[in-house]
Amino acid sequence: MGKNLVEKILDKHMKSGQAIIGQEVGVSVDTVLLNDTSGPMSLLQFEAIGLQQIKCDLAVAYIDHQTLQAGFENADDHEYLRSACSKFGARYSKAGNGICHQVHLERFSRPGSLMVGTDSHTPTSGAVGMLAIGVGGLDAAVAMGGGLFYFSYPRVVRVNLTGKLQPWCSAKDIALEILRIFTVKGNVGTIIEYTGPGIATLSVPERATITNMGTETGVTTSIFPSDECTKEFFVAQQRLEEWTPLTADADALYTDTIEINLSELQPLTAAPHSPGNIQTVQQAAGLKVDQVLLGSCTNSSYRDLMVAAKMLEGKKVCDTVSVGIAPGSRQVLRMIAANGALETFIAAGVRILEATCGFCFGSGQSPKSEAVSLRTNNRNFKGRSGTESAQVYLVSPETAVAAALTGVFTDPRDLGQEYPKIELPQEFLIDDSMIIKPSGVGDIVRGPNIGLPVSKAAWKQDIKGKVVAKFEDNITTDHILPAGTLMKYRSNVPRYSEYVFNELAPQFPQLCREYAENNYGPIIVAGFSYGQGSSREHAAICPMYLGVQAVIAKSYERIHWSNLINFGIVPLVFGQEQDYERIQAQDELLIADIVKQLGSTTVVVQNITQDYEFATKLEISARQCDILRKAGLLNYTKK
Ligand code: F3S
Repeated sequence: MGKNLVEKILDKHMKSGQAIIGQEVGVSVDTVLLNDTSGPMSLLQFEAIGLQQIKCDLAVAYIDHQTLQAGFENADDHEYLRSACSKFGARYSKAGNGICHQVHLERFSRPGSLMVGTDSHTPTSGAVGMLAIGVGGLDAAVAMGGGLFYFSYPRVVRVNLTGKLQPWCSAKDIALEILRIFTVKGNVGTIIEYTGPGIATLSVPERATITNMGTETGVTTSIFPSDECTKEFFVAQQRLEEWTPLTADADALYTDTIEINLSELQPLTAAPHSPGNIQTVQQAAGLKVDQVLLGSCTNSSYRDLMVAAKMLEGKKVCDTVSVGIAPGSRQVLRMIAANGALETFIAAGVRILEATCGFCFGSGQSPKSEAVSLRTNNRNFKGRSGTESAQVYLVSPETAVAAALTGVFTDPRDLGQEYPKIELPQEFLIDDSMIIKPSGVGDIVRGPNIGLPVSKAAWKQDIKGKVVAKFEDNITTDHILPAGTLMKYRSNVPRYSEYVFNELAPQFPQLCREYAENNYGPIIVAGFSYGQGSSREHAAICPMYLGVQAVIAKSYERIHWSNLINFGIVPLVFGQEQDYERIQAQDELLIADIVKQLGSTTVVVQNITQDYEFATKLEISARQCDILRKAGLLNYTKK
């Protein structure tokens, strides 16, 4: 029987477990990607475990998120990362070199290899046939130390692409179509594998837009084959020796197959406030637009910015629209500077932003109150732009520029322009001088913003708990712990913990302290898809620091679920809908004999306040049970 791409890569990397869907397997890791949000804590944990030397083939830390240095905190984190990378053996991509996923795709991606990254959009490198998975920082620390990464053996869903995109439709519209089909729920444990003749019509950067945004569906990752088009990309990046062909066997099996005819797609948008809220651009046409931003790890490639520049040639952006671009990498920035496209943007009235994440997570460029903002990034959760009342729509570069020109939501097909044809360069500009190789010597620099990793105390006999807050569906890690400028406290857990649920439940930290004084462990109650969005493990660390013992939710997103276990918080699932309805904030709960119950798939919770008990599910592996029993992965790994 033939094998699909995912099976081929996993076959080479699986070191424990069996290839049975849903069963936990341990895989060896070739590459670890760190960003400057989760990276500092990951390396602090690497140190806390007692590791001294990075053992995987390659680790690269990117300074791309926290580059708005208003105050010393972010700069302290950068310096810690630089010095720790140098000491332990990781490469360090300096601020200004670009967004981790774009730079990694350009300079380090490799067909057939396996990467974990402390960023949920790590799957971007799946565009070249790499199995690239987003993880929490502690999992990354263990992988850097040569340990295995554990996850559920996936179901592989084939998306078969036929046809060819029509003018003014682009890869973002495919990514949005995938979201329309898959939605943002219920895809945990799935990998999307692309097949079909339509693939050959898509360049690697276009494939990267699709693998990047696959994250929003909740899948583990997405992957394209490595073909002649991939080879051309590697040749243009002067890395032909790192290219290998990789395709699925003709008789490979898949759990499911979905067909998409690219010729039939039309421009799409994700309307506020979810990437899964898909409409056609025609449906939104005419809506007044206040802001347009191009960039982020989704649409910041040379191809994307060249399409935008060509559309703007000799024109001015609309007087009432603020327009900005953030190139994905220094490579892209230098190439558009060299060929005159940067001048086109400046002349058209476009603001030039740093080659970083920036606006994508609300670090700058927050729009005015109640603004309509069109962005090419991948998430439009309420408030993520930094303006709670803003209406953020996710669109392709083509649709973004159409609105920048007209001032209203416009189907780019209605502009009357000829569609710019952008060829991938035969040679990209290669300059890796901002990627610093490790020296292995020197001291680790710890400024005042660099704290210590925190770990959970051992379990008491019972969890005597109290519901600290009850939330609805789709609680994101941004809800749990805000991103934006507050992220500068990420290496200082006590300080960052003061902001847990600061929008939805501002009293949360204070309530947790009060509960602790009265010997109650706080317990969070939530609906479906708890912890979706960013992989930021602080959304588990900070609640753990505040004493949270368990979450009881209807379902979880994969990375956050793992992060909860890694930090000793028990992720329970309601057995019945009515149990969610019945439980209330402030209810006193008892989970008796917790260490014993962790070994069971059913954990009984007593509601003392309302005098009833209910069963919850805890579907974890024997290894995860051990981790929880030791109150977290840090304690477990040290032991
Ligand atoms: Fe950065 Fe936004 Fe991507 S924060 S890594 S550009 S999702």
